[in-house]
Amino acid sequence: MRDALIGEVLVQPDELARRVRELGAEISRDYKDREPVLIGVLKGAAFFIADLMRAIEGHCVVDFMAVSSYGSSTATSGVVRILKDLDMSIEGRDVLVVEDIVDSGLTLSYLLRTLRAREPRSVEVCALLTKPSRRRVDLDLKYVGFEIPDKFAIGYGLDVEERYRNLPFVAEYGGNVDDL
Ligand code: IMP
Ligand code: MG
Repeated sequence: MRDALIGEVLVQPDELARRVRELGAEISRDYKDREPVLIGVLKGAAFFIADLMRAIEGHCVVDFMAVSSYGSSTATSGVVRILKDLDMSIEGRDVLVVEDIVDSGLTLSYLLRTLRAREPRSVEVCALLTKPSRRRVDLDLKYVGFEIPDKFAIGYGLDVEERYRNLPFVAEYGGNVDDL
């Protein structure tokens, strides 16, 4: 894809593949003889979760949630609305929330509160990317793919107004994020 707004590559395809394999192996060990419910947060995490699940050995199931945060498309207000809820009950289950990126952490923090109220046996988080310098709430991310600098990232599920999700790498967005 030729596009002047695709900036510097932050994570190459082979690095993504290697890290996904490592995370899958770690999760397989940690959840041995259990059957975790992987919850993907749409739409961004759909790409990561599809690869991650195939790197997990043993039984696991998948479900999806869609949330929207009020306010601008690139900065979270912390007010989150559930657009699509889970199909299955998570009561008594081992839940692993799979996120594409944790920025301020406000979206995830809201989601975790909502999920914990349903009394799962455990709840952990696996995030492909995290921007620690932007964090506004304290979150315990058990599995993290890569820490990236405070840059707006696109690709491998991450979008700008629905574009660029199909890039096989993660890159810095070269456009002006304040314009969005
Ligand atoms: P948070 O609530 O600030 O942690 O924002 C989380 C959500 O904002 C992510 O799930 C993404 O949908 C979106 N987001 C945050 N940073 C980026 C980015 O760099 N690129 C694309 N989407 C982002
Ligand atoms: Mg998201």
